Amino acid sequence: MAGTEEKIDVLTEAKKVYDPPAEVVESAWVRDYDQVYEQSIEDPERFWATIAGELEWFNPWDRVLEWDYPWAKWFVGGRCNITVNCLDRHVRGWRKNKVALIWVGEDGASRVFTYGQLLREVNRCANGLKGLGVGKGDRVTIYLPRIPEQFIAMLACARIGAIHSVVYSGFSAQALRDRIADAEAKAVITADVGYHRGKAVQLKGIVDEALEGTPSVEHVVVVRRQTPPVELHPPRELDWNQLIEQASPRCRAEVMDAEDPLYILYTSGTTGKPKGVVHVHGGYMVGTYITCKWVFDLKDEDVYFCTADPGWVTGHSYIVYAPLMNGATVLFPEGALDYPDPGRWWSLIEQYEVSIFYSTPTAIRALMKYGDEWPRRYDLSSLRILGTVGEPINPEAWLWYYRVTGERCPIVDTWWQTETGMIMITPLPCVPLKPGSAARPFPGIEADVVDREGRPVPPKQGGFLVIKRPWPAMKRTIYKDPQRYEQYWKTIPNVYTAGDVAFRDEDGYFWILGRADDVIKVSGYRLGTAEIESALVSHPAVAEAAAIGKPDPVKGEIIKTFVILKEGYAPSEAMVEELKAHVRHTLGPIAVPSELEFTDWLPKTRSGKIMRRVLKAKELGVDPGDISTLEE
Ligand code: WTA
Repeated sequence: MAGTEEKIDVLTEAKKVYDPPAEVVESAWVRDYDQVYEQSIEDPERFWATIAGELEWFNPWDRVLEWDYPWAKWFVGGRCNITVNCLDRHVRGWRKNKVALIWVGEDGASRVFTYGQLLREVNRCANGLKGLGVGKGDRVTIYLPRIPEQFIAMLACARIGAIHSVVYSGFSAQALRDRIADAEAKAVITADVGYHRGKAVQLKGIVDEALEGTPSVEHVVVVRRQTPPVELHPPRELDWNQLIEQASPRCRAEVMDAEDPLYILYTSGTTGKPKGVVHVHGGYMVGTYITCKWVFDLKDEDVYFCTADPGWVTGHSYIVYAPLMNGATVLFPEGALDYPDPGRWWSLIEQYEVSIFYSTPTAIRALMKYGDEWPRRYDLSSLRILGTVGEPINPEAWLWYYRVTGERCPIVDTWWQTETGMIMITPLPCVPLKPGSAARPFPGIEADVVDREGRPVPPKQGGFLVIKRPWPAMKRTIYKDPQRYEQYWKTIPNVYTAGDVAFRDEDGYFWILGRADDVIKVSGYRLGTAEIESALVSHPAVAEAAAIGKPDPVKGEIIKTFVILKEGYAPSEAMVEELKAHVRHTLGPIAVPSELEFTDWLPKTRSGKIMRRVLKAKELGVDPGDISTLEE
């Protein structure tokens, strides 16, 4: 862990602790973290059962947890459907006419859905999908921009028991094709275009290309936003409006077993192949519901704005499912943070009186670069709780975020993963804050920092972040790859190894330092070095390639690649551009290396594995640590 000790010193030097304002604590759902935490850990099953009791079930569970290491089942025998808790539960009561969703387009257009309207739209879409022959257990790939149909499509699938696989709309055709093929999707839901910085991003064309070689897909449903509308090819392709127009607004939610899959979400790991993380209806519903309620202290009056994309897990858990289960009003704008100007998000906060704002360190650093003048122009007094997720937040960015929003909003630095489904380590708004630390585990969660053998390490010493017992929203498997699932619990026996390096301080606060494996976080996007390398190697000129993450003041990390060209190809600027374009085409814009260096040698182990650690240490000018396995 090159450089870890220095990082720890720097982080713990800034000693100031930020106490939450008394009025925040007084009215919070959780006022005494220590007490709630200790009780939860004495009997976690009872704790989770009590939470589950706040939600609606068709049928109660017989057993809270069945733990057959490393396989877990939660709320065994329970029957439910997550959409009943997102929609029906509210529509039966006073929230029927409460605003569930406010969408705002780049051009200022807006669309508003009450809970009642959203339920009707979801049901129409659910019935439409049924009409296409989509049913329980079928997979549906959703490739949409940030528009309300994203919510509707996800919820409609869940309603009828179909398994959605949302693919981030910034992925290329090939990346989309791989995900459709792995899931063997029966239908794809997409749009003609998304809008970004005033430009129309063509999505339908990408889908067309992706569908070459995916025979499982029977139907493509297209949300058409442009005029004249893009041409469709029936019967396989059909228009979204046509699908829902004739459909009934009533659709009974399919009765699901608590352990039935809700969705697959592909994420990057240490091999070139993305893994399909599988989440289920029951436990996921319980874990995301309560974390959203307690971490953001979500109340009925709140307007909730999470800047993530539904293509990532944050969007699944904390834009769509959990805020709706809590009956929140969700603000959901399309477009970039600095278009038409860097005041975009601040102006939305003012205009819609946003009270809860959940974003990423990269976004905060980007806003910070634009300067104080932008937040200063707007009235941000509606803000109550701030959040961040996706990568470690540096104390400087934390302090800026805190200061420009009035030095009165707790910042919840939430640590979690696609695999965990829910927030795992985080301050609750009643907890004193240390800038840069994700504070303490959520109630019911036992976390630790250990060495390779699983022995806890002393405070202020770096080690592997682990979770010591199962939790309800944990992933249940990796789609079609149970062995890969087991690895998480077997890397260090009996605990879940997250793949992150962390340390704890004297107060038991967790500080996450970054990934321990070959996963990098570029602007909070998760990418596997192996994916980038295999994209490069698929170019005819490339013999070998290695990718590493290199620290960057705004993006957290950027991608740097080292390339060995094949005989007959020469390094040149044109070749650099060609290879970057190739990665863009293969994976998508987020995976394009910022730096590409030609080399004729890569450090390797005797068994031929590239030692990225050595490349990285060399790049950063630090000691590479143990290099005894290096071949030369
Ligand atoms: C990193 C995103 C530090 C971490 C929800 C983790 C964080 C990976 C934090 C999962 C945080 C997430 N502080 N690092 N608050 N939150 N991470 O699956 O390395 O896209 O393992 O899920 O993001 O990324 P994923």
